[in-house]
Amino acid sequence: MTKVIKNGTIVTADLTYKADVLIDSGKIIEIGPNLKGDEEIDATGCYVMPGGIDPHTHLEMPFMGTYSSDDFESGTRAALAGGTTMVVDFALPAPGEGLLEALKRWDNKSTRAHCDYSFHMAITWWSEQVFNEMKQVTERGINTFKHFMAYKGALMVNDDELYSSFKRCAELGAIPLVHAENGDVVAELSAKLLADGNNGPEGHAYSRPPQVEGEATNRAIMIADMAGVPLYVVHTSCEESHEAIRRAKMQGKRVWGEPLIQHLTLDESEYFDKDWDHAARRVMSPPFRNKQHQDSLWAGLASGSLSVVATDHCAFSTEQKRYGVGDFTKIPNGTGGLEDRMPMLWTYGVETGRITMNEFVAVTSTNIAKILNVYPKKGAVLVGADADLVVWDPEATKTISAETQQSAIDYNVFEGKEVKGLPRYTLSRGVVAWADGKIQTPEGHGEFVARDPGMPVTKALSTWKELTAPRPVERSGIPATGV
Ligand code: URP
Ligand code: ZN
Ligand code: ZN
Ligand code: ZN
Repeated sequence: MTKVIKNGTIVTADLTYKADVLIDSGKIIEIGPNLKGDEEIDATGCYVMPGGIDPHTHLEMPFMGTYSSDDFESGTRAALAGGTTMVVDFALPAPGEGLLEALKRWDNKSTRAHCDYSFHMAITWWSEQVFNEMKQVTERGINTFKHFMAYKGALMVNDDELYSSFKRCAELGAIPLVHAENGDVVAELSAKLLADGNNGPEGHAYSRPPQVEGEATNRAIMIADMAGVPLYVVHTSCEESHEAIRRAKMQGKRVWGEPLIQHLTLDESEYFDKDWDHAARRVMSPPFRNKQHQDSLWAGLASGSLSVVATDHCAFSTEQKRYGVGDFTKIPNGTGGLEDRMPMLWTYGVETGRITMNEFVAVTSTNIAKILNVYPKKGAVLVGADADLVVWDPEATKTISAETQQSAIDYNVFEGKEVKGLPRYTLSRGVVAWADGKIQTPEGHGEFVARDPGMPVTKALSTWKELTAPRPVERSGIPATGV
């Protein structure tokens, strides 16, 4: 049974053109005018784009004394409803737990996914066991390792552990990711705020100023350079961090920055002069920033110094947020966004002219697929690619509301925002997964997407001599240019 998407305009990271898309057995088999198929999907007035890839989610994650409330079932439902066809979640070993042990738990949880998914592996402690298991993890198709420079006393790793793990990533051809905040300084500031009686949610924002993020980003970049490995900085929220990434890129280092849709569109006023629940629901790390930081992030997307837009979807109910009444350090950190990332970015980015449609595709899908080494299986409208597609109606509107969302929690940080630009259909490997305001794929439709490591990088690539010498572009998760 073939399927054809008719009368749409294809939008990719670099082209916009009118053509039909023919699909068979989950793959795109032809692109061109006047195609015929057994089944027709009407894309009149719509753009046909690669489905979104969210490179940063935490589904059913044990964290701060509880579990994030969206699991692979509700989380992937939310993803598809918003035009996202693949999520990359963080397998999180408890400190002392083996990586493969943690991976088993994530394998079990993810069997309920409605769309495709992959994993990053977190390095939450360091030992010979972790060193050895990193290789087995890459053999399982996980080519990215996440490090928390914050959450002191819980998930945080120190610089010696970072350096060792980064060197191991270099040997394996894997890419290290960092949550870049100086956890020692955050702990000091938090203790001082609490001692002075500042225990409300706004204390969370005061305890994590942009400097703690800028310092840690720069430190991680330098450590990665010494280890000879590229670096992916998750949830880049401020100019200080963006500046460090820009500088590194100009020096020829392969460093990627990932702003979140929340930081692009919500600012620090969400924490001040608001009722406790309102502010606590928006407590996440890093916190929301002021307008100047937001402008910096938008400029980074337009100029290419920032590469992708994610959500860090880590949703906690109001009841869970209330664990922190009387002590902001106990408010579970995290916000949702999976369903809203693409419509919010379209509305506040494309509709306003801050980014182009092609840049929208690049930062929500194609760049991510390239960095994570799943391009062009994912992130592409090309013959042979998976038919993970979104038929995007640029005229469709809605008001975001917790009442109508897929997420399992009882509020939405974007409540009341009007968006213009929504998926009419979302297709997952050729199957219509979202249509008529409903999920169409069953639980378990989602498959694990294995990602090969790139070429091992065993020495620093950022000296002028090496940069200027001709070198081949290898098949790699470490693209030489372009992202
Ligand atoms: O506040 C956040 N970002 N929660 C999720 C865990 C993390 O730090 O990414
Ligand atoms: Zn983080
Ligand atoms: Zn995260
Ligand atoms: Zn379901």
